[in-house]
Amino acid sequence: MEFCDLKSQYALLKDDIDKRIMDVLAHGRYIFGPEITELEERCAGYAGVKKAIAVASGTDALLAGLMAYDVKPGDYVITTPFTFIATAEMIALLGAKPLFVDIEDRTCNIDPEALKALLANLPAEKERVKGVIAVDLYGQLPDYEKLQQVIDDSGLDLFLMEDAAQSFGATQRGNRAGSFGDVAATSFFPAKPLGCYGDGGMIFTDNEELAEKIIWIRNHGQNERYRHKLVGINGRLDSIQAAVLLGKFDTFVNEEVRKRDEVAEIYTTMLKSVKQVKTPVVEEINTSVWAQYSLMAERRDELQKFLGDKGIPSAIHYPVPLHRQEVFIDLGCGEGTFPVAEKVSESIISLPMCAYKKNEDIEAVVTAVREFYGA
Ligand SMILES: Cc1ncc(COP(=O)(O)O)c(C=O)c1O
Repeated sequence: MEFCDLKSQYALLKDDIDKRIMDVLAHGRYIFGPEITELEERCAGYAGVKKAIAVASGTDALLAGLMAYDVKPGDYVITTPFTFIATAEMIALLGAKPLFVDIEDRTCNIDPEALKALLANLPAEKERVKGVIAVDLYGQLPDYEKLQQVIDDSGLDLFLMEDAAQSFGATQRGNRAGSFGDVAATSFFPAKPLGCYGDGGMIFTDNEELAEKIIWIRNHGQNERYRHKLVGINGRLDSIQAAVLLGKFDTFVNEEVRKRDEVAEIYTTMLKSVKQVKTPVVEEINTSVWAQYSLMAERRDELQKFLGDKGIPSAIHYPVPLHRQEVFIDLGCGEGTFPVAEKVSESIISLPMCAYKKNEDIEAVVTAVREFYGA
């Protein structure tokens, strides 16, 4: 069994994807081909924002966003310790420090109350605290109204960035992921809900001034050819990756988002009777795009081994919260600093998920989970 059936998806969408790739080979504009603008327009329209800027990865999307806000050594950016490393890594890469805030155990997303407590008692000079990156973990958004309210109430001038790497296709109060905060960053890594055949990402914003800066930053800070206004990066998306995404786009928005939800629903219904696992909660204001179907499970490591022995792949997102990673040890956050993140990291396990997961595969996974617990 595959964790994520990308080959089944390709078999179904082959004609559209192949045609799009062949178009790039025919026109030869491998960098900044017409596919880039077309993809940006489609993504902006779908997310409901003014500007979408294609970049080479979700990591570059975060980096370019932080650079556009001029985050620099000595600054601080607040984020969750329970996310993929890239979120905090890009803060550190710019010489700034991540200030972590614990998560809620219902959704594993940043806890607005914990954010409020941190903002009321900042361990840093308040002028050096630049913003907050909230992460839409596993495909579900934290409550952005609440987060914005907490920021506004603090009286601090902070940007709010949405790390939407796992949530393209999800919604909150009817608005799509990518449209929250001042700027949002998504990833098109192959296994993401919408993935290309390599690395890719997109930045979203309604702020035209910020968008212009990001457009410069992603291409070596150039505002004109060989005129460099800012320090930037090579953060361009390839035309071929944009072509793959365009070949998948309609099916993703019209079918796959719904199918992923159906797969999750089947898992949740079938696992309800297993007392030893806690199935994921989706808040009423949200729809999830299920980047991961992640459970909290008793004896998680033994369960993972049992599934593996039966040929059922699973993954741990994430086994060590970021404040306990070696790279961030200097931040001085000892064990117990963020108890919810630490507790969740000991019991979380992600089951195979994709829009094309067959019913018999889902049944095989659930049967194995039940067998493990004797449920
Ligand atoms: C929450 C989060 N942020 C950022 C990234 C980085 O995206 P990419 O792998 O496209 O650089 C990922 C990718 O796994 C992610 O899950």
